[in-house]
Amino acid sequence: MFSVKQQIESLRRQLHEHNYNYYVLSQPTISDFEFDGLMRQLIELETACPEYYDPNSPSVRVGSDINNNFTQVTHRFPMLSLQNTYSEAEVADFYNRVKRTLNEEFDIVCELKFDGTSISLVYENGRLTRAVTRGDGRKGDDVTANVRTIRNIPLVLKGDDVPSYIEVRGEILMPWSSFDALNKERAEQEEPLFANPRNAASGTLKMQDSRVVASRKLESYIYFMLGDDLPSRNHYENMTMARKWGLNVSDTMRKCHTLEEVFAYLKEWDIERKNLSVITDGVVLKVDSLIQQRNLGATSKFPRWSIAFKFNAEQAITRLKSVSYQVGRTGAVTPVANLEPVLLSGTTVKRASLYNEDAILALDLHIGDQVYVEKGGEIIPKITGVDKEARFLVGDKVTFTRRCPDCGTPLVRNEDEAVYYCPNSERCPTQIKGRIEHFVTRKAMDITIGPETVNLLYDKGLIRDAADLYLLQFGDLAGLERWGETSANNLIESIERSKSVPYERVLYALGIRFVGETVAQKLAHAFPDIDQLAHATVDQLVTVDEIGDRIAQSVTAYFANPIYAEFVRRLREHGLQFTLSEEVLAAKTDKLKGVSIVISGTFELHSRDEYKALILQNGGKNSGSVSKNTDYILAGDNMGPAKLEKAEKLGVKIIDEHTFLKMLE
Ligand code: IVH
Repeated sequence: MFSVKQQIESLRRQLHEHNYNYYVLSQPTISDFEFDGLMRQLIELETACPEYYDPNSPSVRVGSDINNNFTQVTHRFPMLSLQNTYSEAEVADFYNRVKRTLNEEFDIVCELKFDGTSISLVYENGRLTRAVTRGDGRKGDDVTANVRTIRNIPLVLKGDDVPSYIEVRGEILMPWSSFDALNKERAEQEEPLFANPRNAASGTLKMQDSRVVASRKLESYIYFMLGDDLPSRNHYENMTMARKWGLNVSDTMRKCHTLEEVFAYLKEWDIERKNLSVITDGVVLKVDSLIQQRNLGATSKFPRWSIAFKFNAEQAITRLKSVSYQVGRTGAVTPVANLEPVLLSGTTVKRASLYNEDAILALDLHIGDQVYVEKGGEIIPKITGVDKEARFLVGDKVTFTRRCPDCGTPLVRNEDEAVYYCPNSERCPTQIKGRIEHFVTRKAMDITIGPETVNLLYDKGLIRDAADLYLLQFGDLAGLERWGETSANNLIESIERSKSVPYERVLYALGIRFVGETVAQKLAHAFPDIDQLAHATVDQLVTVDEIGDRIAQSVTAYFANPIYAEFVRRLREHGLQFTLSEEVLAAKTDKLKGVSIVISGTFELHSRDEYKALILQNGGKNSGSVSKNTDYILAGDNMGPAKLEKAEKLGVKIIDEHTFLKMLE
């Protein structure tokens, strides 16, 4: 029989190997199901025997809710950036300068320039010990806990020839597919969208909760190695070695001996990069020999042995067929250009964003125009110009619509805003459908229907608003085209279940402008009954922590509107929760009234979320960062040193979980 320790070690070894096969080689040898089985076994054993905890276990990939207090770490070797060039002539200048300075044979390694956020990874005795962002080049944030969740970053390097200390540098990226899925989810939740995968990747890396990081599917590409004991004196060979150890080094890297070979690489990858799953915005050229690199040296900002060549933003030219308008659930109207389909960055583009009226006027756009479209890492392509020379039969000049594309109501534009709104929010079908779609989402009422079904039910006249969902009968659904008994039953059941969704989430589901999940929670605690909330004045509302004028105005306007008041009344009649639950209410106290608490570290008795809820339930304020207004830090194990230092400086009292729980007794 194997000991538990041996079993854990064997499972870890196997899982590391499978991760490598899957994420680096893209050649899995077992099914996802089998993989999950092994992972489950490992987690079970690790939970049972915490004494074998290892921060580099493959199970760490699922993330933890330890608060990442990003400690600032000084880079052992500064992280320089590169000089950018935009033309072949500038590349030739670089090449010739290197040639003159070295006055000997040299090779240039060409690599793709990955457009994400840079990271430095330190491996000690083959194990990942630290991951730090670039920061200002000299000092960066320690994001190790988050980086451990990135699947193609090995926690333990393979092979017995790994030096005792190496630092590798690379780029963290979010592939297009993950980016699109993330923004789709954010749009559903009415959270602000990420402008491009780069922002999404760097934002994700700085998140507090590494479980969320784990869910975002980031990837790494390694392009540099440092240390006192490197395997080779050439960059190319070091990268080849890094790949052997399990790091993800792109196989698009190529060693070039002449300037012509460099140009050929630039030309080839300007086209080929469009078929990659991640964004690249250029090529990085590096002198291969580390000795030559040292001889060439660096300026205060850039190395002299490397430059970046940036590709032109990808552009295509096509014909503008028409302009249409879309209205969202908040009534904002956005113009969309409908284009003759054209290939751009590997996808066929049929539509492009036109932003707003000012943007259309600035382009002097006419129907039938030949327009330039670009996809510069943004979500939807945009029109950047018009080829006016190509105009011979000019179509109508594009003027922004004055009426709602859906309900025909004249649009309004506030003086200091660029956006037009449809003011008919109570009756405009698109806005109504949008609100129903929001009402059913997972974080709101969690009713299992998608936008198509909402549309279908609305168009069939079966629902006019979300309250009508509660009137649906089995017979209404089973008769619908392509609806079987099972799906009808499931929907009815899911609607029924939603009646026990707690008040906080119902409040969020109403879709009051500016009332997101967190605001809804705060309002529910401050006004434990919807009647209290409905009668609250702006002055009363703004006394609630983090509720400002804008939210307060929106809440009072909502309840003052007879249509919404009636809507809420009907929901209540159907049995939805409009008061804070008995349990939460019974446990509610004023014991922490006016007390601001920051939570840091990991705990034994309760989870961080439970502590957060306890603070709120007892009238306290939970805040994310230490300031002069902080009364206590509720500290568990591994409290971040930065927070500790700040707390000491400001004289904030640090308490452990036992003391905190005593305060509530
Ligand atoms: S080498 C001293 N190689 O571009 C050399 N950088 O503008 C350091 N980048 O900060 C960088 N792909 O974030 C290098 N193949 C590549 C790269 C790359 C993307 C990023 C990196 C760096 C920035 C320089």
